Amino acid sequence: MITKATNITKHAAKVTADQRAAVRGIRPCIVWLTGLSACGKSTIAMELEHALIAAGHPAYVLDGDNLRHGLNRDLGFTPRDRAENIRRVAEVALLFADAGMIVVCSFISPYAADRDGVRHRVPPGHFVEVFVDTPLEECERRDPKGLYKKARAAVAAGSGLGFTGVDAPYEAPRQPEIHLHPDRQNVAQCVQEIFDYLRRHGRLGD
Ligand code: ADX
Repeated sequence: MITKATNITKHAAKVTADQRAAVRGIRPCIVWLTGLSACGKSTIAMELEHALIAAGHPAYVLDGDNLRHGLNRDLGFTPRDRAENIRRVAEVALLFADAGMIVVCSFISPYAADRDGVRHRVPPGHFVEVFVDTPLEECERRDPKGLYKKARAAVAAGSGLGFTGVDAPYEAPRQPEIHLHPDRQNVAQCVQEIFDYLRRHGRLGD
């Protein structure tokens, strides 16, 4: 991405990210949920935020469908637009983490390179990749917005929507920090697994 503005300099803050985090009593990180449409990412993200806040930890969800109504409303679903979607989200997530939050990101983010791009922006341990591994057949059976049905119909009609899992790729994470199986685990178990991981790795400050 090219920086177009010239004659700009950065202003130094008088507090560090560590000082901000210390006030909040946690070690900030980015919990990145990736998986097919309708795999359960958003539900898990919202429940995780709820559990973290209920336990007194600052958390905030950035969700694909939600951000595409505002910040990313000019973007579609070409590989290039999806990359830009994730790039912008990463910038926002970094700001939230810098402010001392646990940031829960919920995006299909189908391209490994885009996800790795976020991982490489933060120190080791700050990026927690969570693969929400619901099989395509199950996502398609759920199809809450009828999008899989539309995508199949479009393909059958000889056109295409570039819909993830139907006629656009999903590159599964090779070594995610957490691998969830929502077809075998309920939402509470998925949330607990992430929560326990964060605690075990010292991100919750207790
Ligand atoms: S991402 O691929 O760029 O990470 P994102 O998570 O922001 O996607 O948005 C995905 C949501 O957009 C899906 O849950 C679905 O509701 C909707 N959507 C609309 N068109 C598509 C498409 N072609 N592929 C995938 N999701 C789509």
